[in-house]
Amino acid sequence: MTDQNKDQKAQAPKTQRINGVRGMNDLLPADAAQWAHLDHVLRDLTRAYGYEFLRTPIVEATAVFQRGIGEVTDIVEKEMYSFEDRLNGEQLTLRPEGTAALVRSVIENNLLYEGPKRLWYTGPMFRHERPQRGRYRQFHQFGVEALGFAGPDIDAEIILMGQRLWDELGLKGVRLEINSLGQADERAKHRAALVNYFEKNKVQLDEDSERRLLSNPLRILDSKNPEMQTLIEGAPKLLDFLGEESLTHFNAVQALLKANNIPCKINPRLVRGLDYYNLTVFEWVTDELGAQGTIAGGGRYDPLIERMGGKAAPACGWAMGMERVLELMSVSGSLPEAQTQCDIFVLHQGGETLTAAMIIAERLRSAGIDVILFCPPDGQSASFKSQMKKADASGAAFAVIIGPDELAKNEAQIKDLRASGEQKAVPLDGVLEAVINALVGASE
Ligand code: HAM
Repeated sequence: MTDQNKDQKAQAPKTQRINGVRGMNDLLPADAAQWAHLDHVLRDLTRAYGYEFLRTPIVEATAVFQRGIGEVTDIVEKEMYSFEDRLNGEQLTLRPEGTAALVRSVIENNLLYEGPKRLWYTGPMFRHERPQRGRYRQFHQFGVEALGFAGPDIDAEIILMGQRLWDELGLKGVRLEINSLGQADERAKHRAALVNYFEKNKVQLDEDSERRLLSNPLRILDSKNPEMQTLIEGAPKLLDFLGEESLTHFNAVQALLKANNIPCKINPRLVRGLDYYNLTVFEWVTDELGAQGTIAGGGRYDPLIERMGGKAAPACGWAMGMERVLELMSVSGSLPEAQTQCDIFVLHQGGETLTAAMIIAERLRSAGIDVILFCPPDGQSASFKSQMKKADASGAAFAVIIGPDELAKNEAQIKDLRASGEQKAVPLDGVLEAVINALVGASE
């Protein structure tokens, strides 16, 4: 910070608003029900396929991602939020994705000791990208990872999970694109052909691609630069370099998808932006979300566990961007209605009526009923008319009213806020029973 900036800061009034960080969003109450709905569907989905939940910390040693995702990737080169621990100088990073961190945990906790594992996770991820619609610096992923399974059956299973999820969420216009990255030796042959091809056309490479030509030429195929697309289109295709085993695996995955009526398109240019993949890779894409049309992606990453220091074991998985999926639900018109806040709204006139109202509200809550107790914003009191407006806006089915007149008679009024508007007096110690009957009656 320059001295001038510091002076300006010092002069800034202490009450000046402090905003959130660019590209990192609040989840506001109006959207909370949609996220809760998505969480609910995800929990049911993972249970239906026998996947267990695993949560890793948001901060990991930077090496987890450098080694896991690969040094020569956009994420590791440009997008990580990395910092040094002030106390011990350790290099740390806010996780940009879940897979490398999950593998770190699986190895550290020896989770594959008893055999393969099906796991899932959800949570915030951080990438320092240019924020735009569908692309944020803090975003949320849901991911599934199946570790210790080598066959094409598990590739197909995790893809079926995705398709079931889109159906469940009512998403429209989602396409599955699939490719095979083969094995290391096949990629090496393809790589030699790629380098040869790009070297012949070196003048057309942009700065990033020129740098990657020798370090990681496959990444050039992942370039988003529109001026490079024709060149990339004509590049040698990895599929043409696959050996028999890789092709058999790829064909078996496709056959299982076909048998389950899952259409997919082979996209030979699909290479994914992370370095841990081999064999099957795939993405679900849509045209409905503008430039950020990939709602989920993943694939097989057999080399990763060993690369991260574990005993070699095959694995595959995928992750989806939750913001993008919710946005697509909105475009598809399949977002759930906002939920009402409560069943019962309790009105009172302060003093002893507040005491009685609070006791009743607690009694109802103990019986599992959702209750909002009116609290006057000025800490004093408010007219029943203005309280009733709040009761209506809360979406509650019934209001319980305790004014001085009611309290004098040891009674409360119960008012139907939806259908009839009917109001009746009940004894104070009969409020719970009357409310339960009213709620049951209203739901029939
Ligand atoms: P990824 O393709 O980097 O893969 O991210 C998965 C999904 O996260 C993307 O398809 C997209 O929907 C969402 N996403 C990524 N970056 C952003 C962003 N800046 N803002 C909003 N959404 C975003 C992975 O992360 C791998 N770990 C997937 C995987 C799991 N592979 C195997 N297992």
